[in-house]
Amino acid sequence: MSVKQPTIRQLQLIQALARYQSLSLVAEKLYISQPSVSIQLKNLSDLVGLPVYHMKGRTVELTDAGKAILRCANQIFQSLDNLKTDIDNLQGVVTGTLSIAVVTTAQYFLPVLLAAFAKRYPRIEVALEIANRETIHARLRDNSDDFYLFSQVPPGVEVVETPFLDNELVVVAPERHELSLQSSVSLARLSHYPFILREHGSGTRAATQKLFHQQGFVLSEKMTIASSEAIKQAVAAGLGLAVLSRHSLDFGVTPGLKILPVEHFPIKSQWRLVQNTARKPSLLAQAFQQFMLENGMEILANAVNRC
Ligand code: PGA
Repeated sequence: MSVKQPTIRQLQLIQALARYQSLSLVAEKLYISQPSVSIQLKNLSDLVGLPVYHMKGRTVELTDAGKAILRCANQIFQSLDNLKTDIDNLQGVVTGTLSIAVVTTAQYFLPVLLAAFAKRYPRIEVALEIANRETIHARLRDNSDDFYLFSQVPPGVEVVETPFLDNELVVVAPERHELSLQSSVSLARLSHYPFILREHGSGTRAATQKLFHQQGFVLSEKMTIASSEAIKQAVAAGLGLAVLSRHSLDFGVTPGLKILPVEHFPIKSQWRLVQNTARKPSLLAQAFQQFMLENGMEILANAVNRC
């Protein structure tokens, strides 16, 4: 007796439905007609004997049966990815696409490192996604990429972390700010000045607030901006002081800014290459990790000297 099983296409549809929550969007993204999407999902429901989705308002939600199929689909596609990695590894070739997703703070230095890596391995391609922390965290949970870059690794996912680069957080002020003439500024004094902070969930924000809290002071938060680039402009315009990664100053020169000599600063942490443990590292991923550990610091130091 033959047991009926979902087709690979139906599993792709369930994954797409979970992601886009709309039949028309699934049809558009997978380049098939909407009636065909509906028929395939109806066949899948008939196969398991239960509906696989229902409508909630205008969005599509997977039912418990749909979610069970989604879990199975995720495992199968992960296994297929791992199979590809195994075959490439057996062939011993460093080729393919390296996919990396990073928070916006890393945009200042990662392209320099990727350029050097691509020069060493000219046959590879790189897919780089730069987005806010929430998006990158979701991609880490979904195991969408080979690597993620964080200095404060978000909790809740089993990961391998490889620290490879210092990340120093510094206090910046407008060039002509009264504190910029001081040889040393205390946290007590700093706490009287308005600050522009990164958004909730930001690693920079968390590290800054932790330091102030540990030392018994409260930051006076005047504004929240979810972009280091916009914060630099706001500080230069005199809207407040801010804490930023030194990398965002070394590579994105902003005239009119000065680093203040504040006690307990710079806050020192490290950039970490983060991998979801469910993904088998390809030869390419292993080569990237080794390259970063061996060369990352030096490449950036040379790049800073050239700026
Ligand atoms: P950010 O920094 O979240 O403030 O951009 C990254 C990190 O510290 O992980």
